[in-house]
Amino acid sequence: MKAEQRVMADAASLINAAAEQFISVARAAIAKRGVFYVALAGGSTPKGLYQMLATSPYTTQVDWARVHLFFGDERCVLPSHDDSNFKMASKAMIDAISIPEANVHRMPTELPPEQVAKVYAATMDEVLGEQPLDLVLLGLGPDGHIASLFPETAALDVKNTKTTPLYVEKHDSWRVTMTYPVINAARQVIVFIAGEAKAEIVKDITTDAVAGLPVQLLAPTGDYYWYMDTAAAGQ
Ligand code: 6PG
Repeated sequence: MKAEQRVMADAASLINAAAEQFISVARAAIAKRGVFYVALAGGSTPKGLYQMLATSPYTTQVDWARVHLFFGDERCVLPSHDDSNFKMASKAMIDAISIPEANVHRMPTELPPEQVAKVYAATMDEVLGEQPLDLVLLGLGPDGHIASLFPETAALDVKNTKTTPLYVEKHDSWRVTMTYPVINAARQVIVFIAGEAKAEIVKDITTDAVAGLPVQLLAPTGDYYWYMDTAAAGQ
């Protein structure tokens, strides 16, 4: 499915635009339903966005007490490990905002991967009930993966659960990821792409030079955007 592309001049304006969008979606959800459910992306690209959301003037524009933070995926390492998406997001944002601890839903990666997936899917059911996520933030890997939905893995075919564990050969690591059904059901999905290193994969995808990559299999039922800087957009 094709996303609406929003291209910003540079990384700084990309982060500002993404922060504005995050706050706009959060405020609308809270105004309408009293709560904002968001799944954060891992990796390095969204770190700048998280840092921006934790600083003035942005941080006071969100009623963090009405926000529930989930993770779109997680590496199966302890939360203290440098590879942990939870650790990255905590240092960049969570530790600096006034969000109730009970509203931060970390994947319990002290458990075995299968257990992490089961427990996290149950947490999502308990917190979300019948509601979809309001916003899913995703990064884009150079191989076209999103969250931990990596090419040629069984995770791409999981349709009956909200999460699944998978072993990622190229990273020699176990991960747990949200699956397509829960991402596609979100009210809004934003893929956040920055830097020259992503220009090739962005070009291949937008010119249909490749097909069937995980990001290309996304079919959000809600709003779907790619937020890029010109370096990633190749413009
Ligand atoms: C992860 C992320 C992953 C990431 C992409 C892009 O756990 O690593 O969820 O999907 O978003 O690999 O990563 P960068 O932003 O570091 O390029």
